Amino acid sequence: MAKVKTIYACTSCGATSPKWVGKCNHCGEWNTYIEEVISKDTATEAKDKAWRAPETASGNRPVPLPEIKAGDMARLVAPDEELNRVLGGGIVPGSLVLIGGQPGIGKSTLLLQLALHIPVKILYVSGEESEEQIKMRADRIGGQASNCYILAETNTSKLLKHAQNLKPDLLIIDSIQTLSSPHIDSMPGSVSQVRECAGELQRFAKESHIPVFIIGHITKEGSIAGPKLLEHIVDAVLQFEGDRNYTYRILRTIKNRFGSTDELGIYEMQANGLREVSNPSELLLSQNEEDLSGSAIAATIEGMRPMLIETQALVSTSVYSSPQRSATGFDLRRLNMLLAVLEKRVGLPFAQNDVFLNIAGGLRVDDPAIDLAIVSALISSLEDVGVPTDVCFAGEVGLSGEIRTVNRIEQRIQEADRLGFKEIYISKYNTKGLDRGRYEIEVKTVAKVQELYFALFK
Ligand code: TYD
Ligand code: MG
Repeated sequence: MAKVKTIYACTSCGATSPKWVGKCNHCGEWNTYIEEVISKDTATEAKDKAWRAPETASGNRPVPLPEIKAGDMARLVAPDEELNRVLGGGIVPGSLVLIGGQPGIGKSTLLLQLALHIPVKILYVSGEESEEQIKMRADRIGGQASNCYILAETNTSKLLKHAQNLKPDLLIIDSIQTLSSPHIDSMPGSVSQVRECAGELQRFAKESHIPVFIIGHITKEGSIAGPKLLEHIVDAVLQFEGDRNYTYRILRTIKNRFGSTDELGIYEMQANGLREVSNPSELLLSQNEEDLSGSAIAATIEGMRPMLIETQALVSTSVYSSPQRSATGFDLRRLNMLLAVLEKRVGLPFAQNDVFLNIAGGLRVDDPAIDLAIVSALISSLEDVGVPTDVCFAGEVGLSGEIRTVNRIEQRIQEADRLGFKEIYISKYNTKGLDRGRYEIEVKTVAKVQELYFALFK
């Protein structure tokens, strides 16, 4: 007999409660509980319990560590170097990898492209598109497709049956929000359904040693039953991000049980699929030859990779009493702080001006070393004096206007040198152990924003 019950589930961490609560006791988030109707029969309840305590291959007996064979864990190396890098050197057998991102960013394209180019047997299960639609996309991307099997299915029991029979080397699920498990009677995409399906996929991956890639959508607000809830279940979480109006995409590691989370993969979306960007500094300039005012280049490090990125500022007289501030790809509060520092320490009149800031290529930069370039771009636009295009910057700006040290300065200088820049401005305190003779680029040091102002604009 199926019994129907109503529970309340937290959309952030997946905790459940018999009644609605305003604040989740587990993760502390507010207003995340939603009502779910569940009907389960008793047999499936028992099954449900079983996956929570899965029997391991070693027969539930403690095994001394040296006796466990590590050879079984040989990674499956993808033809996509960026993906290998982000996963920490290839796909681990039996691992469950979640690829999250906003709708339309290119998740399906990324994984279909992997399926078409990797020379092993793949099962690509789609609950979003029909076989014909996938075929059209595959034709667009091109590549060897003889090993790639497509299945349009949303029922987990059926799709796992097919996977067991086919025994692919990699299973791809597009997307977790469309799957539904017959053991649970709530809507696809709901908290309990997503958790149940992920649990079933995890059990399949661990028992069969077949790696499983799961696509999960997130919305700007963090979705109803979003990948947030799955982060605990899966082995690795990769986030695919970028501005949809630009062509560059970044694949970031949020969690990885088998590698570093500092890695980063960069792609460019083209008419025939995603292209790997192995030399990220090519994102750089908007190809200006002249020294236009309001633009400066930052020597940043994203993940483990040095990257030169152009920052652009526009400072113009405000027509309103409270001037506008807008930033794309940069934290607005940090921009306000930098403006306050320039106003107070250098005496520049930003308070009467509108300020717009933009990071080229639609990228979002978290590296604090970008501060110095932003400050230069701001002053350059205000004074209407261009910064020479062969000059770049790497330094953090503190509240008293001091230029602070940044990590891995040598790597930044080296990259700027390799790209033919003539000068790089860094913090005066960042020169410990630095051998300036090694580089052709001239390393200039500044201690305060005032010094930078006089060096560049006076
Ligand atoms: P898609 O992979 O469907 O996104 P997601 O699965 O994350 O929702 O990609 C959608 C966008 O990518 C779509 O707007 C069109 C674009 N695109 C290209 O520019 N070139 C291509 O070769 C493909 C397949 C898609
Ligand atoms: Mg898709």
